[in-house]
Amino acid sequence: MGRIIAIDGPSGAGKSTISRLLSQKLGFMYIDTGAMYRTAALLALEAGIDLSDGEKVAALCESLSFSFRVEGDTVFVTCNGRDVTRAIRTHEMGMHASDVSKDPRVRAVLTELQRELGRKHDAILEGRDIGTVVFPQATYKFYLDASVEERARRRHKELTTKGENVSLEEVEEAIRKRDYNDSTRQVAPLKPAEDAIIIDTTGKDIPTVIQEILGYIK
Ligand code: DC
Repeated sequence: MGRIIAIDGPSGAGKSTISRLLSQKLGFMYIDTGAMYRTAALLALEAGIDLSDGEKVAALCESLSFSFRVEGDTVFVTCNGRDVTRAIRTHEMGMHASDVSKDPRVRAVLTELQRELGRKHDAILEGRDIGTVVFPQATYKFYLDASVEERARRRHKELTTKGENVSLEEVEEAIRKRDYNDSTRQVAPLKPAEDAIIIDTTGKDIPTVIQEILGYIK
């Protein structure tokens, strides 16, 4: 197995930008596990599958194959040869992803795909349960956090820059709901691994957080 860096934490904590930059700096493969849950939700919706039908969503996940490619500041996500990068990055798909991710059957299939991807390379995996469940033996584990208000502001800026028409209040409300869903679910809830290094990114810019993380990586 290659070296694994786990980056976990709630939405808007800065995981994606930090993971992408670290992968570019260190030459590690970047695996965005949230994108996999988002894609599962997208494809299930397109296939007319009820998102609460875990058995069907899990069966669909069995047929999926993912690849990630970082180009500049974009992470391109391809699933079964289709570029889903834009389609999965909506506010709505984030909520749907949180819903499908509750089901243990769906998690089991995607967790296995994540392990297969991570086993082949030095990799940075970003998600909610990487350090606790997917790769508990990861070389480094980081848990990024920030205040709800700051995470909502960041996510709102990101969505409106992409042209989505959504208010800051709606985003904050959705983040609170997702935090609740993700941290109270029965299987692999969002929580720091016991041996994770916890970094509060509130009020810190990206270069500061990158430096802090690089300070731990030998
Ligand atoms: O990181 P994100 O916003 O793209 O994640 C979307 C949802 O997917 C998140 O609300 C919970 C779920 N998720 C998960 O359960 N486990 C992961 N490792 C990654 C994401």
